[in-house]
Amino acid sequence: MSLTLEKILVRSLTDIKNQPNKNITKSDIIYCLMEAIGKDKSYIITNHDKEIDSNQLIKFNFFFDSLKDGMPLAYVLGNQFFYKYKYYVNHNVLIPRPETEIIISEIINRGDQIYESKKNFNIIDAGSGSGCIGLSIASERGRWNIILSEKSLDASKILNKNYQSEYRDNCFLVMSDWLSAFKEGTADIIVSNPPYIETNCTEIARSVSDYEPTEALFSPDGGLSDIKRIVFESKKVLKKDGLLFIENGFDQSEKVVEILKENYYKDIDIILDYNNIKRFTVSRKP
Ligand SMILES: C[S@@+](CC[C@H](N)C(=O)[O-])C[C@H]1O[C@@H](n2cnc3c(N)ncnc32)[C@H](O)[C@@H]1O
Repeated sequence: MSLTLEKILVRSLTDIKNQPNKNITKSDIIYCLMEAIGKDKSYIITNHDKEIDSNQLIKFNFFFDSLKDGMPLAYVLGNQFFYKYKYYVNHNVLIPRPETEIIISEIINRGDQIYESKKNFNIIDAGSGSGCIGLSIASERGRWNIILSEKSLDASKILNKNYQSEYRDNCFLVMSDWLSAFKEGTADIIVSNPPYIETNCTEIARSVSDYEPTEALFSPDGGLSDIKRIVFESKKVLKKDGLLFIENGFDQSEKVVEILKENYYKDIDIILDYNNIKRFTVSRKP
């Protein structure tokens, strides 16, 4: 039996009304339809009477069933927009978050001021995951050297795919346990969005704990163990006056500032995210 786009939309909306706890929106369904038929949003909205073929229907049903199972939309579709770019994702990498986007323009602003006076300008994105931070900066500033570093082999396969998909010849991929692979005085800027959720935390959405990679989420010592390591190791790897940008959890900013002060970092600034949460610190090498 052939089905029009409108019938599928109506049928799916009725289906999700009967499962209110699933948090699936009309927009999620439209994204699944877009991916299944390979068209954009305006096509779906303006072509309600178009029929979809059986292969497209199988694809759509697969996506919709995965959503109903609780899988995040980005994993269902295999991609996520971040800043101005689209990144491949799978269950081996964290889904890029909107609250992380803010750091791209902050780094570009600060980097533009430093770059003028430097020939060899290096940024390390430590724990790159999908590569969303480093690759977005690389796309915006083609003359800066961006080093994408990751410890997880599985994550690095997606990182490599994103790097290859829009080859940026100013990027380098390095496997490293935080900053251990880097020589003294390598970087002008180090940025990291490390795992920062306390290991035993139970207040975490099922869609996150069931689907996203443990090594991207959890850190012992109140969620601060990886942050402490990055702060400590950055002191060696940053150049003189180099900057460290680090993301933290919604209630960790004061503790991160303490860790930075204990390590003698200077000029510590706190950066708010879109929800006015103290999400990042930027500070200068001691
Ligand atoms: C919170 S995710 C951030 C991913 C990406 N930068 C983003 O913002 O979406 C943390 C990343 O750090 C990586 N990671 C965890 N422990 C690491 C370590 N010891 N050394 C390097 N990377 C590590 C994880 O594999 C994961 O990709």
